[in-house]
Amino acid sequence: MAASLIAYPFGPAGRELPRVGQGSWQIPERGAAAEEAKLALRRGIELGMVHVDTAEMYGDGRAEELIGEAIQGLPRVELFIVSKVLPSNASYQGTLRACERSLKRLRTDYLDAYLLHWRGSQPLADTMRALEKLVDDGKIRSLGVSNFDVEDLEEAEEALERHPIACNQVLYHPWERGIEHRVVPWCEKQSVAIVAYTPFGRRSLPDAATPQGKLLSELAAKYAASVHAVILAFLTRRNGTFAIPKAASIAHVEANAKANQFRLDDAEIAQVEKAFPRPRSAELRMI
Ligand SMILES: NC(=O)c1ccc[n+]([C@@H]2O[C@H](COP(=O)([O-])OP(=O)(O)OC[C@H]3O[C@@H](n4cnc5c(N)ncnc54)[C@H](OP(=O)(O)O)[C@@H]3O)[C@@H](O)[C@H]2O)c1
Repeated sequence: MAASLIAYPFGPAGRELPRVGQGSWQIPERGAAAEEAKLALRRGIELGMVHVDTAEMYGDGRAEELIGEAIQGLPRVELFIVSKVLPSNASYQGTLRACERSLKRLRTDYLDAYLLHWRGSQPLADTMRALEKLVDDGKIRSLGVSNFDVEDLEEAEEALERHPIACNQVLYHPWERGIEHRVVPWCEKQSVAIVAYTPFGRRSLPDAATPQGKLLSELAAKYAASVHAVILAFLTRRNGTFAIPKAASIAHVEANAKANQFRLDDAEIAQVEKAFPRPRSAELRMI
């Protein structure tokens, strides 16, 4: 497991975390499926995927409630819980209030990171000021952003006075590598962690008979892992990039956790990069 740890925020002051964590968008909200999703989340934590991502938007707070239930009794210090404020709530006071609501639903005293979900119409400086106050007050351990291109990152950085941007959570999967042109180099230079959302691209994986599918299957066989784990290992090949797949079953969680146990070598990374080429455009896309 040690080989898979990287610092978050990326840089010397960061806490070490496994590269692959867990998402929670569209987690089943009620009934037996919700119970299974909670067990799956706990299994993931047990397997080291302690970085749990959520947002006030997911199920209108229901995802946060389910995570709050799932983590009851676990040592809080070992977890890394991240939530996000909706742009429409991201005024100065609105951000402070939204954070309190998230803490309550998650049944915790603090968040490890709190992010602006995407840039909206509220002045960015007001949101950043609120996030800094939340760090000062001990309600959040770090602050971050999501779906931010370089110009937005620069503006956020400019607005911050006391605390750095810990992470930028962005769409990143093998078919969507546009962030590698500008966003990744900027974040690496500034020690801002990249957190890859929708790592499987919400699409069918390539058939094993195609060159892409064959390559992924061969790598999966070599590492006794699934194709999904190979994709996660590929996305998190750089120090400073995490991934947060969402899985609602124990089988999927166990498959994803495998990605924290092996690293693709340079030649394999080059093969995957060639099979899933970068787009020409550096445009930042959102789901
Ligand atoms: N910041 C943002 O704007 C933003 C936007 C989108 C997502 N996110 C975050 O990123 C997380 C991940 O993104 P996502 O939920 O869009 O997509 P994703 O993680 O790429 O894909 C989730 C889908 O993959 C399936 N899956 C997971 N592991 C699998 C495995 N080992 N084998 C087969 N299928 C597997 C899941 O099935 P089951 O559920 O049936 O297990 C689910 O259908 C979200 O949950 C959320 O926390 C953030």
